[in-house]
Amino acid sequence: MILKVSDQITEKVRNGEITDEEASRFSRFVDTCNRELMTHSIITDNKYSQWFAKGEADREMVKHFIVQFSVFSNLFLIAQMMKVINATSLEGMRASKEILANELGVIFNKPGNKLEDVQDTDREGDPDIVTVEGSVDGGTFRFKAAHFEWLVRLGSTLDLGFNDLGKRRHGTPSTLFFCDQLSSIYGNEDANIAEGASFAVENWAAAGFWKELISGLEAFKKSEQPDLPLAFFTWHDRIEEQHAGHVMDELEELYFEDGFDEGKFIKGGLEMLDGVAAFWIGLNEHRIAAAYA
Ligand SMILES: [Fe+2]
Repeated sequence: MILKVSDQITEKVRNGEITDEEASRFSRFVDTCNRELMTHSIITDNKYSQWFAKGEADREMVKHFIVQFSVFSNLFLIAQMMKVINATSLEGMRASKEILANELGVIFNKPGNKLEDVQDTDREGDPDIVTVEGSVDGGTFRFKAAHFEWLVRLGSTLDLGFNDLGKRRHGTPSTLFFCDQLSSIYGNEDANIAEGASFAVENWAAAGFWKELISGLEAFKKSEQPDLPLAFFTWHDRIEEQHAGHVMDELEELYFEDGFDEGKFIKGGLEMLDGVAAFWIGLNEHRIAAAYA
């Protein structure tokens, strides 16, 4: 994945919003991001998700994966809350609340949202039908729409109960390291560090690991567990596809704000990617050890 400066920058120069010199400074910074962040092995070469995609994970490996993912998913709420608290603008705080409230179960409000057509209240909050677009502002809260509840439903088909999922005590050291790095870097009070981490997390998420997980889970569903609900994963894949395009827009905006610090941004991004990598490396080491046990 290589980031490219968008036409909007040329447009901004033409409109006199930024100078030629600022545009080329930005373009050099995008090169730095490509060189320093986008080459990180967890973006270019995620061994675990590549292996998982092949559909060779057995029941124990799938369960271990779901438990670790549930710990990340649940503890992510803390990191997102930190991001809300440490926001440096009202817009930033609202953008972070969109994610936090949606995680907790507020369904995005969008005219034409499929939810309005659903008569069967049993399906309200079902990730197969809830939209990935719109705002939590004016959205409907449903317990069943909480992302963690989607995982609980998935877990129940694998004999994982509510108390087998999402708690700190269920996390391996590498999973917990990742979760703690999220809280401290992604949720950092220094906006430059936090934004670097956000940028890193978004690019990691856009690098295609959701699709790899889905293909592995589809294979497992087919051969082992026909009732396995995959919607937690397909929903996240859908929303990521939509987010990917926004990453450069956000960087362009941020870069020209007062106080932007390139060094801190890259540092936050790199440290966050190392945290992300720890999570996947932990999973990969576990499956290798399990295979030879
Ligand atoms: Fe989520």
